[in-house]
Amino acid sequence: MSEQTWNSKEYNENARFVTELGAGVVELLAPQAGERILDLGCGDGIQAKELMAKGCQVVGVDASPDFVENAKKLGVDARLMDGQALTFDAEFDAVFSNAALHWMKKKEEVLQGVHRALKPRGRFVAEMGGHGNIATFEKACRIALAKRGLIDKVPEPNYYPTVEEYSSLLANHGFRVEFMDRFNRPTPLPKDAKAWLQTFRKNYLEELDPADVPVFLEEVQEAVRPQLCGPDGKWTADYVRLRFLAFKA
Ligand code: BEZ
Repeated sequence: MSEQTWNSKEYNENARFVTELGAGVVELLAPQAGERILDLGCGDGIQAKELMAKGCQVVGVDASPDFVENAKKLGVDARLMDGQALTFDAEFDAVFSNAALHWMKKKEEVLQGVHRALKPRGRFVAEMGGHGNIATFEKACRIALAKRGLIDKVPEPNYYPTVEEYSSLLANHGFRVEFMDRFNRPTPLPKDAKAWLQTFRKNYLEELDPADVPVFLEEVQEAVRPQLCGPDGKWTADYVRLRFLAFKA
């Protein structure tokens, strides 16, 4: 089973909307100049840079070497680190995360590390995929993988909790949940379904015979077209978000 890998250039072309649509969660963070903030799953560093521009001292961590290199080039103190094995101890006023937590399936380890990283009464503010996220894409992918006998070899790479699930997980890890919301966010895609799959479902494509990749892409794109492609030919993905603010209790 291969892991999802990231490429900053491709991400910039096909996934810039992830940071652009993250403005709401930055608002919830309400960063103050001088605060020390950990950007968990900082990706290519664009959002960390925005927090720095507001006067925050930001450390970004990501498990992708390509993202970390990109973030460093932007001047971010970016470190190659697995979010499921954070090594910080009581040094951050806030931990922030946008569109990254759903890639970290060892959720208990993530929350232990975030709790340890925060100063007393520090806050954890994040947005991630919520229950039902990209269900149309995922269903079509699972059908196409099953047809190829790959369903057990390629598990779903993400975790999309409900409000109830994640609230109790936070409470069980020493957080007080101040706010949590799950909402639909239909998200216009810059290109088509195939481009989305090539950016976000690399781990599926890598398991296929290379000659089968274009066939798989076409098959999934046609399966999702009725729900995700409008009469104008523009594609919209069925994103669902979970957004929350919690404090270290
Ligand atoms: C998300 O941000 O919800 C997401 C993006 C790509 C793949 C899976 C989830």
